[in-house]
Amino acid sequence: MENEKVTIIEIQKIKLEGRKISALTAYDYPFARLLDDAGVDIILVGDSVGMTVQGSENTLSVTLEDMIYHTKAVKKGVKRAFLVADMPFMSYQVSIDEALKNAGRLIKEGGAEAVKLEGGVIMQDTVNALVEIGIPVMGHIGLTPQSIHIFGGYKVQGRKPFRAKEIVEDAKALEDAGAFSVVLEGIPLEVAKEITRVLKIATIGIGAGPFCDGQVMVIHDLIGLSGAFKPKFVKRYAEAGKIIENAVKEYIGDVMNGRFPDEGHSYFMEDRHLRPIDKKMTK
Ligand code: KIV
Repeated sequence: MENEKVTIIEIQKIKLEGRKISALTAYDYPFARLLDDAGVDIILVGDSVGMTVQGSENTLSVTLEDMIYHTKAVKKGVKRAFLVADMPFMSYQVSIDEALKNAGRLIKEGGAEAVKLEGGVIMQDTVNALVEIGIPVMGHIGLTPQSIHIFGGYKVQGRKPFRAKEIVEDAKALEDAGAFSVVLEGIPLEVAKEITRVLKIATIGIGAGPFCDGQVMVIHDLIGLSGAFKPKFVKRYAEAGKIIENAVKEYIGDVMNGRFPDEGHSYFMEDRHLRPIDKKMTK
């Protein structure tokens, strides 16, 4: 249903019916409201906030407190979309106990409806434990940004058959553990197609070709707010960065030339005859 709240049941139904799922990141209230009003199915408070908003080189420095802060803000702007929050680096890898506690904070304090974490086979027990206590999990495999130092950079994963096989195994492990969906990032379209065929849960692609059940994008990449950064998988739908820059230049020009603020953007005293500044202004 168009206006009904999206839940994991609805996401599963979309997969079964062969429809597509749309997902986007948001990190604050105004963007969350815009995306939700536009009808996106899933809003992800991604740890990409480290790059898009905090200006860091990668996602590794993002903290759990950062994620709770941004999730809280996004939550206030979301009515219909399903709200997923990323578990940041080192908030779930050390032990299952820590993963449960930290995921619990994203749900309880941030208001998320599910968490996302990176890793397949290696995270199977953690995902299972989270689902057992009632926290829906979105998996994330392939080019997992929290492992860039292992990959030696943002390199497409699964181009060779042995690695492709590992990624398919990761996907199956997540499904077996009870994940409700899995993000496939930076993998060849053939591998994503095969995973989407064998899994009963929804696959959400990013840089994984057209055969996934859904698509997720970083909103800043989509609307031209990430500067010159434009990898092959990104499609620009707007140049909001240029629009903002032009607006700011116009504003600066108006202030410098005394065109703004004018009387039309000013307040007046109640009785015009008592205005002491009127005389000065007309001089
Ligand atoms: O952090 C993020 O924005 C993500 C998406 C790119 C899937 O994990």
